[in-house]
Amino acid sequence: MTADELKKQAAEAALRYVEPRLERDTVLGVGTGSTVNHFIAALGDLRSRIDAAVSSSDESSRRLEELGISVIDLNAAGSVDFYVDGADEANRHLQLIKGGGGALTREKIIAAAAKEFICIADESKLVPVLGKFPLPVEVIPMARSHVARKISAMGGIPVYRDEFVTDNGNHILDIHKLDLRDPRTMEAQLDHITGVVCNGLFVRRAADRLLLAGAQGIRTLLPDA
Ligand code: A5P
Repeated sequence: MTADELKKQAAEAALRYVEPRLERDTVLGVGTGSTVNHFIAALGDLRSRIDAAVSSSDESSRRLEELGISVIDLNAAGSVDFYVDGADEANRHLQLIKGGGGALTREKIIAAAAKEFICIADESKLVPVLGKFPLPVEVIPMARSHVARKISAMGGIPVYRDEFVTDNGNHILDIHKLDLRDPRTMEAQLDHITGVVCNGLFVRRAADRLLLAGAQGIRTLLPDA
């Protein structure tokens, strides 16, 4: 089975989880990326049962609206009942690296606001220790070099994501070789660098449920008790 077929299976598993839990006023949070695109495509059949969606990127908003699903501003949503999104890496504690698609800041905001964060991925995303995937950090453009120097001093190798501007008008540094054995501390340290808007570690707000698709089917991982 190809990686894309597995992503589709994970997306369908999320739909099976969410569908029986939909209520009249359910607000659905929708993330960004190729895995979530399968989820969005499948949502079309449920459009009449979804009150509204909040979305983590202009691209996902466009896809949702094309299906006739109303996309509202997070400020207008009373609360977000479910947030469904992919990840670039996940560990067994459901801590994640996200932001490969550059949408990390809005993703982190929706995850923070969501009652339940359901992460969907193919099983290649599950790793023993986070950090093989370069960690995306969104920065205010004028702070890019300053932030890069600070991160270099922390042992990482920052690479400017060329010609990429986030939906918030900012830039991305992809950090290679950062030691993420203590991701909680690193998330906080990166947040403290002036000029950093957001980093792609989802540890303070990890996923609540990880639906992993593999050759043997879907595996559900829950956080450690
Ligand atoms: C978008 O910024 C990311 O956080 C995505 O959720 C992540 O990159 C996963 O993307 P794929 O589903 O395309 O692998």
